[in-house]
Amino acid sequence: MKKLLKGGRVLDPASGLDAVMDVLIDGNVIAAIETDIPGSSADEVIELHAGQWVAPGLVDVHVHFRDPGSPDKETTETGAAAAVAGGFTTVCVMPNTSPVIDSTPMVQYILNAAQSTGIQIFPIAAVTRGLEGEEMTSIGTLLSQGAVGFSDDGRPVASANMMRKALEYSNMFDVPIVCHAEDCTLFGNGVMHEGYYSTLLGLPGIPSVAESVMVARDIELARFTGGRVHFAHISSKESVSLIRKAKAEGLRITAETTPHYLALTDACCQAYDPDFKMNGPLRGEADQKALIEAVMDGTIDVIATDHAPHTPDEKSMAFDCAPNGVIGLETSLSIMLTHFYHTKKLNPLDLIAMMSTRPAEIFKLKHSGRLAVGERADVVVIDPEQSWVVDPAQFHSKSRNTPFKGQTLKGRAILTLANGQCLYQQSSLLKRSAMAV
Ligand code: DOR
Repeated sequence: MKKLLKGGRVLDPASGLDAVMDVLIDGNVIAAIETDIPGSSADEVIELHAGQWVAPGLVDVHVHFRDPGSPDKETTETGAAAAVAGGFTTVCVMPNTSPVIDSTPMVQYILNAAQSTGIQIFPIAAVTRGLEGEEMTSIGTLLSQGAVGFSDDGRPVASANMMRKALEYSNMFDVPIVCHAEDCTLFGNGVMHEGYYSTLLGLPGIPSVAESVMVARDIELARFTGGRVHFAHISSKESVSLIRKAKAEGLRITAETTPHYLALTDACCQAYDPDFKMNGPLRGEADQKALIEAVMDGTIDVIATDHAPHTPDEKSMAFDCAPNGVIGLETSLSIMLTHFYHTKKLNPLDLIAMMSTRPAEIFKLKHSGRLAVGERADVVVIDPEQSWVVDPAQFHSKSRNTPFKGQTLKGRAILTLANGQCLYQQSSLLKRSAMAV
């Protein structure tokens, strides 16, 4: 079965390709990228126009699919459906499931569950058994079974000595340790960013230094061990400065931030709505500004969602009692298009690089992040101009906890092909025709 994507703006950050071209998909492989491929060479032609982008499927290296353990929040199936609706064809799932992804059978469980979804799902395995911080997991074995990184995400690796050992060990395999940067003693019982609004709202605050002190520690451990640290969900300006300096020194540091830190601030917590509660918390305007600059100058490598589903019941508790986390797979691309492409802060190639090519490189995801002849046909078609209103009731995710509900966003994925299969399509926007053969 051959599909022809005809006439879109083809973007491949890895090669720098940015031109109006046709893309021919033969089975599960990209067979040709050329101008004027005849419609007769395909079984199906999808007519695009030059304003629509054809890009490598998006890659989110930080999601929580809650499988196994909490099928009321999300399952691999609903998480994957949310992913393709957001343009993602590859995701990395975090290990804070029940049981924790800290053993060979658990890594195999994730890879098995992935198979029926059609997308690529890779486990980030735990650094320590049960996320308890006491005993390191078998990093080499888990890696050989299919884990692509290691993290105790949801919690920090509190012991510097444990982090040192994990970095020394993971360095032998050139694989990153993903740092959930949080000092629990400074975090205390905080529920939102410590600042003007936490005082105003009478809620216990989480100081920025709870994050940056851990970023500083792990930069020093990366220097000492030569290991690779990938900082998860960076939220504060102090962390940004530390990461920028460490990168300038040539340390093996990479970092991600999330769309919610880029688009929102702690002022959003004023309605005491738990859909604005996550860890790290939404921070102040100066932090938001620093993160935007860091995205633009490359200090931040990757946009990740930290897609963290929780049930409506849990998220209808009082702000200070509700669990941390917001979903993001179905809004991430649109937030980035609205706040970075339409404001001319990022060009299309750089935006796609941060949401596909770069995360695939960092986690060595061989079959993701490229749109080139011979590659796996993971492709997203994006309409950057389409405005839509975020309605959580329409989400494919099982959960509804988005801080972007009711917002009008500009741009979205309109077609997602994974391994050559069409897994998501907004039918009204595409002209598809079957060719007589
Ligand atoms: O807000 C968060 N929620 N931050 C995390 O680090 C974990 C996540 C979750 O698992 O719910």
